[in-house]
Amino acid sequence: MGPNVFVSQHPLVLHKLALLRSADTPPPLFRSLVRELSRLLFLEAALDLKTSPITVRTPLGDCVAQQIVDRVALFPVLRAGLGMAEAILDFVPDARVWHLGLYRDHQTLQPVTYYNKLPPQADLDVSFLVDPMLATGGSAVAAVDILQRWGAGRIKFLGLLAAPEGVRALQAAHPEVPIHLGAIDSHLNEHGYIVPGLGDAGDRQFGTF
Ligand code: PRP
Ligand code: URA
Repeated sequence: MGPNVFVSQHPLVLHKLALLRSADTPPPLFRSLVRELSRLLFLEAALDLKTSPITVRTPLGDCVAQQIVDRVALFPVLRAGLGMAEAILDFVPDARVWHLGLYRDHQTLQPVTYYNKLPPQADLDVSFLVDPMLATGGSAVAAVDILQRWGAGRIKFLGLLAAPEGVRALQAAHPEVPIHLGAIDSHLNEHGYIVPGLGDAGDRQFGTF
């Protein structure tokens, strides 16, 4: 994969991904693992956020510290990106959250947009597009298309699992978008599911099997 693809090697990510994948993991645990993994991956994806010096008074005197100056926005792809965005928001509570409703048509596997309430003006510097699964890549490519047309600043994709097909598709369409992942799996099956993957990320979070 290219230089803009970052697959975490953090032991905590590896450990939690094993639990997330297991068919024995019920929705409550699955949701908390999605949250923990999202935060761990966000830490890596947010390494280049810009900071500027700020002087704060400690109980013992003045200290030159740093504050984040980039205006951050999170774009969860419904439904499965919801748990990721909520977890990341705890780390960047001032971030704006714009929801994007996209689902894959089961026959064609093409993304269908059903919710997009972006305002006319984009006033942000860094956009994190969050969706646990990068399968064919159709949804991520469509989402980045929407964000770029809108003027969403530096765009980064954050996902838990990907298929090589999806990574290639997103890189081909948007080579400038860094892709931060927990793992890249073997392949897609004939239904467009990531193998071995974890199944349907939306259904497993929300218990809608
Ligand atoms: C899943 C997932 C991605 C998409 C990935 O959503 O959350 O958005 O599929 O597949 P792709 O890379 O082939 O486009 P899904 O369509 O199942 O919707 P849901 O989250 O509402 O269940
Ligand atoms: N969406 C999912 O939730 N899982 C997959 O494996 C592929 C797309």
